[in-house]
Amino acid sequence: MTESADSTATPATSRRTLLCGVAVLAAGGATAGVAGCSSSATSTDAKPTAKAGPVTVGAVADVPVGGGKVYREQKIVVTQPTVGQYKGFSATCTHAGCLVDQVASNLIQCPCHGSRFNINDGSVAAGPAPSPLPEYQVTVTNGAFQVSTT
Ligand code: FES
Repeated sequence: MTESADSTATPATSRRTLLCGVAVLAAGGATAGVAGCSSSATSTDAKPTAKAGPVTVGAVADVPVGGGKVYREQKIVVTQPTVGQYKGFSATCTHAGCLVDQVASNLIQCPCHGSRFNINDGSVAAGPAPSPLPEYQVTVTNGAFQVSTT
């Protein structure tokens, strides 16, 4: 007999979850629309945030003079336009959000639609990107790059 009681609890929970989901959709994601839902529904409102402090991305030896390296996981590009001068940029293309994939011929290159960015300042060398790559501060500690993305 307890089996029937347990089996009715699951559909009721599912219906509540479904109704909360509909409320979220109807409210356009506003938190006021999900006030009566379980805490798990509101916990999804918290977006993952980027690390506030500097991020270690890799070794200085990996970035050649006149070139650069794309750190895909961190979505960061580090370049070395001249000897000992390091620059950091967002690796997210300002056209449609693809990750740039390589640095060649003094240009940071996006594979999606062909945008090219200068390794000196992230400015657009070839479109369709409408704006430069955001620049980040780069420091070197113990032979590794520390990049501040804020
Ligand atoms: S997303 Fe980079 S060129 Fe379109």
